[in-house]
Amino acid sequence: MITRLGVNIDHVATLRQLRGTPYPSIIEAARLAEAGGAEQITVHLREDRRHIQDQDVRDLKKNLRVALNLEMAVTPEMVRFASRLRPDWICLVPEKRRELTTEGGLDLARNKKATSAAIKALKKKAIKVSCFIEPSIEAVELSHELGADAVELHTGQYCLAAQGAMGARSGSRRKSELLRIQRAGLRASELGLNVHAGHGFDYENIQEVVVLKDSQGLSLIKEYNIGHSIVCRAVIVGLEKAVAEMRALIQG
Ligand code: PXP
Repeated sequence: MITRLGVNIDHVATLRQLRGTPYPSIIEAARLAEAGGAEQITVHLREDRRHIQDQDVRDLKKNLRVALNLEMAVTPEMVRFASRLRPDWICLVPEKRRELTTEGGLDLARNKKATSAAIKALKKKAIKVSCFIEPSIEAVELSHELGADAVELHTGQYCLAAQGAMGARSGSRRKSELLRIQRAGLRASELGLNVHAGHGFDYENIQEVVVLKDSQGLSLIKEYNIGHSIVCRAVIVGLEKAVAEMRALIQG
């Protein structure tokens, strides 16, 4: 099995919502991500609808050639929405209104009943479910106990350390967080869970993660969901063409 790439296009919607313009088109962005080799499009429908809107998710479901992975909080409203829409995957995430981005993994010990009920309801609709968790053995085992098909390991702490955001401790944290990802991933794969990872990956820090192996010598992480760094890179690799197109218009 090849390693899958899910491209998170939330921040394409962030740019649109900033001005309330009809562009950039979510579907056009998804098409370009597909053309680049994405096996999946990932979006997070947040409670405050700060970027992706309900209609975006419906449009993606209708138009995508690849799989749709919907990230959502464990709420009755979202479970109803997902049950009607039936994306290929749901990734259950914790959500706080004021956070800049998803800050930590699900607290499964605290929300066992609600999470297990949500997983059951979604699986009844033939939707596969992953739990976005801290890379800990405990969270992996709880995800398994609650009936998830996959875990998505929150790699945010590793990525922050790799970007030097933890000051003098960054080097040692990078190593210890990588080890946590490896241990949690190995336990998940031992339990038969699909092992996904995401949050904070960039073109440099992903390199130490893609070489991690499972017990059979295959890539430990079977799926990555990556958004911000890809959208940022798109600005850099696409700006020259965008300017040239406008320049040509001005020229008359
Ligand atoms: N996976 C999950 C569950 C997320 O919440 C996010 C952020 O929306 C990502 C992956 C992608 O993170 P990033 O935008 O930092 O690549």
